[in-house]
Amino acid sequence: MTITEEIQALKKEKNAVILAHYYVNPEVQEIADYIGDSFYLSKVAVGLKEQTIVFCGVSFMGESAKILNPDKKVLMPDVEADCAMAHMADAETIRRMREQYEDLAVVCYINSTAELKRHSDVCVTSANAVQIVRALPNQNIFFIPDKNLAHFVAEQVPEKHFVYNDGYCPVHEKMQVRELLDVKEQHPKAEILCHPECPKAVLELADYVGSTSGIIRYAAESACREFIIGTENGVRWKLEQENPGKTFYFTKTEPVCRDMKRITLEKILHVLKTGEQALEVNEALREAAQKPLERMLELAK
Ligand code: 13P
Ligand code: SF4
Repeated sequence: MTITEEIQALKKEKNAVILAHYYVNPEVQEIADYIGDSFYLSKVAVGLKEQTIVFCGVSFMGESAKILNPDKKVLMPDVEADCAMAHMADAETIRRMREQYEDLAVVCYINSTAELKRHSDVCVTSANAVQIVRALPNQNIFFIPDKNLAHFVAEQVPEKHFVYNDGYCPVHEKMQVRELLDVKEQHPKAEILCHPECPKAVLELADYVGSTSGIIRYAAESACREFIIGTENGVRWKLEQENPGKTFYFTKTEPVCRDMKRITLEKILHVLKTGEQALEVNEALREAAQKPLERMLELAK
């Protein structure tokens, strides 16, 4: 039996389902039952009939699935796969901001720890942040942890006042204007599609800014045949699979999230075989962090 066949057989035997983010290795996306952006994965996790979820992504993603589905077993193929940005805010600053602004809404990007979510009013992802912030009754928004996404949302919702936090994604923050322009010079007809975690100067060059799913959808619907992609290189697999006649370019320094790439078929097989590395979230924390996540699912409907 190949490793893929072994995984498929164990999945049936253990009543398990595999969820994967677009940034994981292609061979992992290939065996997943559901692939998507953070918003899709959090929605899909609710209401799955299988008892066990193998989450191929970084820890905040598995944690969100566990928070929303406390009765399910959520297995993490690599417990060290973490998102650096998820830790780039703190409860003390949130407390101070709440003192300063009476009607403050703490808007928490889903790329955050459960501890940060617990202190927040609503969660958002890059796919729904604009829609949700616009729908909030509050005038003052403290957006954590990502400053780049915060600035992008603030531009779309100018009627609100934003307070920024100094978090960022180390992968997207490194995207260089010069490198994007180099690709554009070589392929002048290509459209530039970027993730909102990129710095403002990069986003200014983009023809489209959106979540990983948004980028994949845009590329499929556009009449253009060539694209320059401003996000992590894992999206290439889906982009090429769904658009056989189109070409996708990345910058010379390809953005790679080392944590996402930690997930391998061997590690998936191991957790399926042993049931090890099941996520546990303390019940008080889980209940508190569930509220902003559920509010997101409600407001994004
Ligand atoms: P998406 O929600 O767009 O998939 O982004 C998740 C992420 O981690 C981007 O770096
Ligand atoms: Fe976190 Fe950036 Fe990796 Fe996304 S690409 S999971 S934001 S470190």
